[in-house]
Amino acid sequence: MAVNLVAFLLSFLCACSLSASEYLGINCGTSYSYEDNSGIKWVGDGAYIQSGESHTARNSQYSTLLSTLRVFKSKNKNCYNIPGFQGIKVLLRAYFYYGNYDSNSSPPSFDLLFDENKWATVQAENDNWENFDIIYVPKRQNISVCLAQTNPNQFPFISALEIWSLDSNMYNQIDSSHALMLRQRYAFGSSNRISYPTDPYDRLWYIFSSNGLVSDSNSASSVDVTQTKDQVPSAVMANAIATLSTSSNFFVDTTQLSSTQEVPIYLNMYFTEVRDLNSSWDLRKFNVMVDNEVIDVVNPAYQTALETTYANITASSKTRIYLAATSDSTLPPLISGLELFTITNPLSNSTTNKTDVEGLGSLREGFPVLKEWSGDPCIPAEYPWDWVNCTGETTPRITSLLLSGYNLNGLLPNFSSLDALQTM
Ligand SMILES: *[C@@H]1O[C@H](CO)[C@@H](O)[C@H](O)[C@H]1NC(C)=O
Ligand SMILES: *[C@@H]1O[C@H](CO)[C@@H](O)[C@H](O)[C@H]1NC(C)=O
Ligand SMILES: *[C@@H]1O[C@H](CO)[C@@H](O)[C@H](O)[C@H]1NC(C)=O
Ligand SMILES: *[C@@H]1O[C@H](CO)[C@@H](O)[C@H](O)[C@H]1NC(C)=O
Ligand SMILES: *[C@@H]1O[C@H](CO)[C@@H](O)[C@H](O)[C@H]1NC(C)=O
Ligand SMILES: *[C@@H]1O[C@H](CO)[C@@H](O)[C@H](O)[C@H]1NC(C)=O
Ligand SMILES: *[C@@H]1O[C@H](CO)[C@@H](O)[C@H](O)[C@H]1NC(C)=O
Repeated sequence: MAVNLVAFLLSFLCACSLSASEYLGINCGTSYSYEDNSGIKWVGDGAYIQSGESHTARNSQYSTLLSTLRVFKSKNKNCYNIPGFQGIKVLLRAYFYYGNYDSNSSPPSFDLLFDENKWATVQAENDNWENFDIIYVPKRQNISVCLAQTNPNQFPFISALEIWSLDSNMYNQIDSSHALMLRQRYAFGSSNRISYPTDPYDRLWYIFSSNGLVSDSNSASSVDVTQTKDQVPSAVMANAIATLSTSSNFFVDTTQLSSTQEVPIYLNMYFTEVRDLNSSWDLRKFNVMVDNEVIDVVNPAYQTALETTYANITASSKTRIYLAATSDSTLPPLISGLELFTITNPLSNSTTNKTDVEGLGSLREGFPVLKEWSGDPCIPAEYPWDWVNCTGETTPRITSLLLSGYNLNGLLPNFSSLDALQTM
């Protein structure tokens, strides 16, 4: 009886913790599933894509996750189709590690798309891996992640995809028609990168090399993080960096932003006092500045984490965002964590005319060679399938099919729902 009761309670607890967050980890270029050292399960990618070739990184000094990749040597656009996250706020991450899989020491450049939106231009590197993170609410039944070839003989590839469902009230100072693209996520003063399971959503909090700054570890044995709406891990609050004196400022690194135009940004900063100050002597108070304007005043408390979010500013690489001690402060500014995102343009709603897509669907049923095509045929307009011609409307029509390169034995069946076919 006692054993059964324990088993019952355990199963109850497990159910609770699993339902906290939905998760999918896809290891690209393999059919093999495994669990990594941190407890994250990774599955092979066969269920999510029908095209591409599996390859193995030659230089595999990184994790198992980055040792395989899927490479796309044909088609201008190849897409993963991932069901299960419609209407849920997610963190979506793509990993790229070239690893000289082709022995050419020639890392390619190509474009990355999500749900018919441009995400990033990936410039792979010989020795380093890269990741791209976005936070958004998928509107469609499936999340679509596409790799688009943009240069002759430079073949797109991908190493892994990771999706975590977030609480809907996290990162909520933008509406669901925009996405947040991560530029930086730092745990200041930390000597290790923080990730899962310390961060339950596997956000990657990078270490920061603090030139001209002072790292301080928190003397508090615990920090209350429950007031932070984005659930910062307490490990991020265990350290901070401060400037050398009240007369020196802490500058947010904006160099990765556009140099020519200001873009909307979403900035989270995490603060806590790291010493048990005697308030009759010491005051730590500083202004958050954007160029010469004070946008906030911060007076961090001991043992409590404070999160501030600035979601209505625009910035370029020339914008100076910094922390500056107030005139009555006796201690320099300090900071424990930072997340900097850019806010995308409104996400694409448009899809190719449904009737035309259905017509293509029946054509593809008949010809397996066409079945490997994935993603939307016409959207985004810069990346249509290479065997269709489309109109430029919000809901594009397919105007013609370019099938000469495909061996269909001249036997196009009767696909009456597709106007383009009837005119062939
Ligand atoms: C969604 O993805 C699944 C699995 O990849 C696929 O079988 C299904 O056809 C997709 N549905 C749509 C509407 O794209
Ligand atoms: C703060 O310093 C004052 C002056 O030295 C002292 O009287 C007081 O007890 C100290 N307070 C705390 C909480 O240590
Ligand atoms: C930006 O947000 C801050 C804090 O929420 C607010 O005080 C300020 O008025 C906003 N500025 C604009 C231009 O909306
Ligand atoms: C997407 O659809 C919504 C509602 O249907 C509309 O308000 C919004 O303007 C659309 N966005 C774009 C980019 O078309
Ligand atoms: C799609 O095309 C059909 C003709 O095949 C047309 O009747 C319909 O209005 C189009 N739908 C949209 C949303 O443009
Ligand atoms: C498709 O569009 C291209 C570019 O406009 C054009 O050159 C080509 O002739 C079109 N193909 C067909 C079959 O209409
Ligand atoms: C094509 O469809 C039409 C109308 O549905 C039908 O009359 C015709 O026989 C079909 N042609 C072939 C080759 O199946």
